[in-house]
Amino acid sequence: MNILVTGGAGFIGSNFLCRMIKKYPDYNFINVDKLTYAGNPDNLKEIQDNKQYTFIKADIGDKKIIPQIMGDHKITHLINFAAETHVDRSIESSDVFLQTNVMGTKNLMDSSLQHKNFQLFYQISTDEVYGSLDLDSNEQFTEETPLAPKNPYSASKAASDMLVMAYFNTFKLPAVISRCSNNYGPNQYPEKLIPFFVKKLLAGEKVPVYGDGLFVRDWIHVNDHSDAADIILHQGKPGEIYNIGGDGEISNIDLTKKILKIIGKGDEMIEYVEDRKGHDRRYSMGYGKMNKQFGWKPKVNFEMGLKETIKHYQMLLT
Ligand SMILES: NC(=O)c1ccc[n+]([C@@H]2O[C@H](COP(=O)([O-])OP(=O)(O)OC[C@H]3O[C@@H](n4cnc5c(N)ncnc54)[C@H](O)[C@@H]3O)[C@@H](O)[C@H]2O)c1
Repeated sequence: MNILVTGGAGFIGSNFLCRMIKKYPDYNFINVDKLTYAGNPDNLKEIQDNKQYTFIKADIGDKKIIPQIMGDHKITHLINFAAETHVDRSIESSDVFLQTNVMGTKNLMDSSLQHKNFQLFYQISTDEVYGSLDLDSNEQFTEETPLAPKNPYSASKAASDMLVMAYFNTFKLPAVISRCSNNYGPNQYPEKLIPFFVKKLLAGEKVPVYGDGLFVRDWIHVNDHSDAADIILHQGKPGEIYNIGGDGEISNIDLTKKILKIIGKGDEMIEYVEDRKGHDRRYSMGYGKMNKQFGWKPKVNFEMGLKETIKHYQMLLT
């Protein structure tokens, strides 16, 4: 396989690349990343000199360079991690979210259609496209849950998901989508909750908790996401959507208290702040299809994974 990985310098893409290069010594991996504020070449240090690995700094929306890269490297598979990903930034301004997440994805698909040896377009998406669940229900998202995004980030991801399925139907682009819940683990940009809170606490500052803190997220370790993506890349069926969940439902306030405890700080370090606009109440990802079809389930225990992740950021940030 000659695999084009986009957004491979980001949190999840870099984890995927580092794991897959070790696992598949016969594959070539071409990483195309624009290196926005969220892209960090240091995430890829362990593979930067590997013969199977090529890095190209480029924008996924570039109509000239992307088809050229795909031709030059005889790309057979494309996995699209590249995106603008921070909800708060999308509330401030959403232009670049639509540009990258929708138009960038479209350009990757148009380029894929030009290559006759191309085998699979794999779009990485998110549980946020399904919108929000009630706090007091036991309901979970399934692949059949209607899309109901509630903020500009999730709307841009839902739009790109719909475009991917439209390309599958209209142009017969062999395409799959996976939708995953909140990832945690090493090398996440420190604007996201866990590294952000650790950074604040190490600086002796209080941590800001939105609204009443009762916003539930379903956390999954990034290694589990990468391993699920590996299965989908090899066994996913074009036209299908796969949900990936972590069995890790926890409210923001309970997660905050866990972080405080691991770092050895008290609840007085919590500061409740004005709620995020349009804040989704609860996400819960049903991954029954992945489990039934491929026997996949998340392996990393949340308590252990969280401790290791916090230790990583403590070492990195002190
Ligand atoms: N982080 C999560 O919890 C989570 C959960 C579910 C799904 N996802 C999805 O997984 C994917 C990766 O998320 P992440 O957390 O690793 O994101 P990230 O913000 O850490 O990394 C995104 C990467 O994409 C690159 N990029 C951005 N715009 C680009 C462009 N126009 N051209 C080329 N590269 C560009 C950035 O430089 C960066 O390296 C995204 O599609 C996101 O929607 C993330």
